[in-house]
Amino acid sequence: MTLPRPIQWTGTGAVRLLDQTALPDDERYLDITTVAAMREAIASLRVRGAPLIGIAAAIGVTLAPAGGAGSTLENVRAACDELDAARPTAVNLRWALDRMRRCAEVAAAGDEPMAPALRAEAQAIWDDDRAMCDRIGEAGAGLIADGDVVLTHCNAGALATGGIGTALAPVYLTHRRGRRVTVVVDETRPLLQGSRLTAWELGRAGIPYTVIADGMAAARLRLGDVRCVLVGAARIATNGDVANKIGTYGLALAARAHGVPFYVAAPRSTVDFAAADGGAIPIEQRAAGEVRGFRGAVSTPAGAEVWNPAFDVTPAELVTGYLTDAGLLAARELGRLAPLPELAVR
Ligand code: MRU
Repeated sequence: MTLPRPIQWTGTGAVRLLDQTALPDDERYLDITTVAAMREAIASLRVRGAPLIGIAAAIGVTLAPAGGAGSTLENVRAACDELDAARPTAVNLRWALDRMRRCAEVAAAGDEPMAPALRAEAQAIWDDDRAMCDRIGEAGAGLIADGDVVLTHCNAGALATGGIGTALAPVYLTHRRGRRVTVVVDETRPLLQGSRLTAWELGRAGIPYTVIADGMAAARLRLGDVRCVLVGAARIATNGDVANKIGTYGLALAARAHGVPFYVAAPRSTVDFAAADGGAIPIEQRAAGEVRGFRGAVSTPAGAEVWNPAFDVTPAELVTGYLTDAGLLAARELGRLAPLPELAVR
């Protein structure tokens, strides 16, 4: 099973990103050498997916200048602020940058060399995410029997995390264990993370899939052959409301109407312990051009009015369960996801 590597250290002071805007037709890598370039890559979705943007931002902080115009600590704080502003909804970004800020403060207070401490913390954030993906996979693999069909939305796979994904983690473990699984992939308008990215990574892994346009999901669920819906999350409130890629809410309604279980897969870094419910989650609004056309092909009359929220909120009552690194939880159990000792800041 070959999974993509969406981010890599280069060993030469740069960070290599797989430019996800160019997939699936062009597998193009970018060497990022500045904080501003990392912010641009996150804002324009060259690197994307809640856990992966946390990792990318953490690694981006290691590109902050040492000394120069300000003290290194000031430069690190400025880098964190700059990266934090790249996208508003995925809470993993803030979670990872908080860890980097604290790491820099501890290093400065102890008069320790800053660069190795920051690099180690960024690697620890990545390693923690990889481990959490594996545990999410274990939590969900038992839901999938040999020959099952599951349906997913957007991309919550290896391209969106530091490991085997969140929503796709149970699919990968099922496949690794020799059981057959087929994935119905929502196209995911307007940026096509499903048809461009999920289909691409499943194909490379040798997992059969069927792409559908988003508007076909209800009809597909009505057929009765889908065992469950598995989606990721950009941010989960403590009552279990889930912000995820636009279209997730409609999918949850359709799943409920057809009696199909609807699972949200996410690590604890996606839970916002300060958000009591989905109303507290900021929803990113993106440019009208993303809806008016795609890669130069126009699909609306020029100047058509557009509404383009990147995420929606699915109420907790539509979620069957949460596949987390602490197992399969109900909404009322999300509090269990408070930081575990092994995930505490080093
Ligand atoms: O705008 P994107 O592509 O970053 O949105 C991604 C999603 O909505 C994912 O489902 C979510 O971040 C979880 S990724 C493991």
